[in-house]
Amino acid sequence: MHLLIPAAGSGRRMGSQRNKLLLTLLGKPLLSWTLAAAEASQQISWIGIMGQPEDFPDFEAILKDLSPKKPIELIQGGTTRQESVYNGLQALPIGADRVLIHDGARCLATPELFDRSADALLGCPGLIVAIPVKDTIKVVDEARIVRDTPERSHLWAAQTPQGFEVKLLKQCHEAGRLKGWEVTDDAALFEKCGLPVRIVKGEETNLKVTTPVDLALAEFILRQRS
Ligand code: CTP
Ligand code: MG
Repeated sequence: MHLLIPAAGSGRRMGSQRNKLLLTLLGKPLLSWTLAAAEASQQISWIGIMGQPEDFPDFEAILKDLSPKKPIELIQGGTTRQESVYNGLQALPIGADRVLIHDGARCLATPELFDRSADALLGCPGLIVAIPVKDTIKVVDEARIVRDTPERSHLWAAQTPQGFEVKLLKQCHEAGRLKGWEVTDDAALFEKCGLPVRIVKGEETNLKVTTPVDLALAEFILRQRS
């Protein structure tokens, strides 16, 4: 199974000077935790990391330190996550049939989660890892008036990995470019093209490190594990 890791963001909401994936978490860069889990997965055999070229020297240092047994390639990312994944898809080795996509910022995903996702992807064209939402979610208009309260039992919070048949996902990305769709995950492109996306039960600890609070939580969880 091939894995693409979008890692080309800037971490604006983290408020740091550099890509948040290079911030230190228990003594190691955030991205190295994500990579260690992918390296430990039984099912993943090839990894592509999409990054901004100015971060490549740091990424190379992380790889040197990790000394992975799997082939890992650095791929130039884009100005949006969607564009970074598009670039990653173009850089997949010929013959890559199915692909998992996992945000570099989800550094707490376990090797077992990658393996469960890869296994499930053999039986469907598209999937996402997700968990049932715990909060009651409100739909709010521009004036900050609540317009709707969707039934919570139908609401799931999307995580990554997300997995797809490569040929289909490439077609969905091309359709998105043509039609100007702007989305925050790959499943949304699949959905807009009318293709089915299956749910795989995610992990509550698989948070996306987005703000400084997430960094503190991630550190706490990693400490509990070690
Ligand atoms: N990402 C990417 N290319 C971009 C933007 C984001 O590959 N042009 C990646 C990020 O590096 C991250 C993942 O997509 O691993 C999820 O994005 P997000 O959490 O939003 O990270 P950032 O875009 O870096 O953060 P922010 O939105 O706060 O700036
Ligand atoms: Mg972002």
